[in-house]
Amino acid sequence: MEPAYGDIAHRVAVPEHSKTLLDIGGADGRLAITLAKQYPNLSKIITADISKDMTDRARKRVQRHRLECRIKAEVQDVHNLNYENNYFDVIVSLGSLHHWRGPAKALLELHRVLKTERSSLNWITKLVLNRRAARSRKV
Ligand SMILES: C[S@@+](CC[C@H](N)C(=O)[O-])C[C@H]1O[C@@H](n2cnc3c(N)ncnc32)[C@H](O)[C@@H]1O
Repeated sequence: MEPAYGDIAHRVAVPEHSKTLLDIGGADGRLAITLAKQYPNLSKIITADISKDMTDRARKRVQRHRLECRIKAEVQDVHNLNYENNYFDVIVSLGSLHHWRGPAKALLELHRVLKTERSSLNWITKLVLNRRAARSRKV
């Protein structure tokens, strides 16, 4: 079942002043595009993924939606991000954390690039957990 990105985007805490958002493990960019449409105040959105293939798909999708001026798709490893300290107002990650080889290191890295004040960190793993629970109930 494909996640309903509109519903998910509504659950992301985007403070009013927010301009910069990182979607880490953003795959083909669907959530980033949905967030861009839902929150016009976000002027710089980065959808970052370790997979080059996913990042290429995200770039194409962003172009199709004519959002290149607001969304960049970049190859990045959450354990070693190429962004300066205190850069993002909002970080979101949907269903990616369970893939990370070093979640503690990754969290420190996300903490480094997240602004220290009036910022928002959003973990969305519930869908994945729910899917797992649904599968285990069937067994
Ligand atoms: C299940 S997909 C979720 C994709 C997207 N967030 C969504 O829900 O539509 C997990 C994504 O995390 C990415 N990923 C895995 N390890 C990563 C890492 N170390 N750094 C960045 N992205 C990573 C994968 O390449 C994959 O695209």
